[in-house]
Amino acid sequence: MDDDKYPPETGRRRFVKGVVGSASLAGVGTAASTALTAATSKPGTTGGPTTYVGIRNTDGPAPRGMPLVPLTVDDDGYLKGIWPEPQDVELQSGETVTVAREEMGELTYSGRWFQYCGVQQAKGVQPTVEQDNYLRAAPGTFDWQDEMELGQKLHVDDFDDYETWGNGVGEAGLGKPAQATWRSQSGEDEDVTPLPVQVVRSTRVPELPAESQYTEFLNAATERGFIAWLDKCTHFCCVPEFKAEGSAKFGAQNQVYCQCHQSVYDPFSPTKRSFTALPRD
Ligand code: FES
Repeated sequence: MDDDKYPPETGRRRFVKGVVGSASLAGVGTAASTALTAATSKPGTTGGPTTYVGIRNTDGPAPRGMPLVPLTVDDDGYLKGIWPEPQDVELQSGETVTVAREEMGELTYSGRWFQYCGVQQAKGVQPTVEQDNYLRAAPGTFDWQDEMELGQKLHVDDFDDYETWGNGVGEAGLGKPAQATWRSQSGEDEDVTPLPVQVVRSTRVPELPAESQYTEFLNAATERGFIAWLDKCTHFCCVPEFKAEGSAKFGAQNQVYCQCHQSVYDPFSPTKRSFTALPRD
């Protein structure tokens, strides 16, 4: 069952007429041709070559960074991930498929960024599944979140002390992290695979767009010092942690550290990488 294949339901979707040409066969070129390649590559109509921006992998066996989750802060101060706008693409065959993809700054942001480590099976990566996109607390990783309720929406005020916060690992004042889930709300009788997300608020984040070649993208993907990523190690899918216990032994006390096999990620130097996204269920 391919959930891509159903007729347009909402006014939010755009429609892109499919084009066929050498660019689509090469998997590069215009956004439309890239989608067409993804939609027509068999098996796995919903996966394929994908370029993304993630937090940089700096050490250990992980092959690449973890993808950013672009975010915004709503008018009431709650943190909300941005899900790409679903759009319908017509294939050469006349079949219409829906993909979650939008231009963000100088990049194409796609739901395929998150299709690895089993997350491709999550309901939340389906292009049009109804979710409110708020980042919701997943206590248990950082002590300061112990008072939070599971699923509580993260709020700017929860991070008030981000300029001084520390947990005894590495330097204090580099940023305050939280563990969250995104697009993982279940219905009454649904068992939903969660999308684990880590978010950090830091004084470093507002400096990143100017330091990066992806200035417009980072301006759109970060806000008020917050940056977030899908927290699934690209090595064997563990859940890394900013300022984790035990990370100092590996020089990672001020970084994001994976306890499983000592991969290290720098949350403050986003970089572009490519991988082959796994097809969704
Ligand atoms: S380093 Fe192996 S799963 Fe993270």
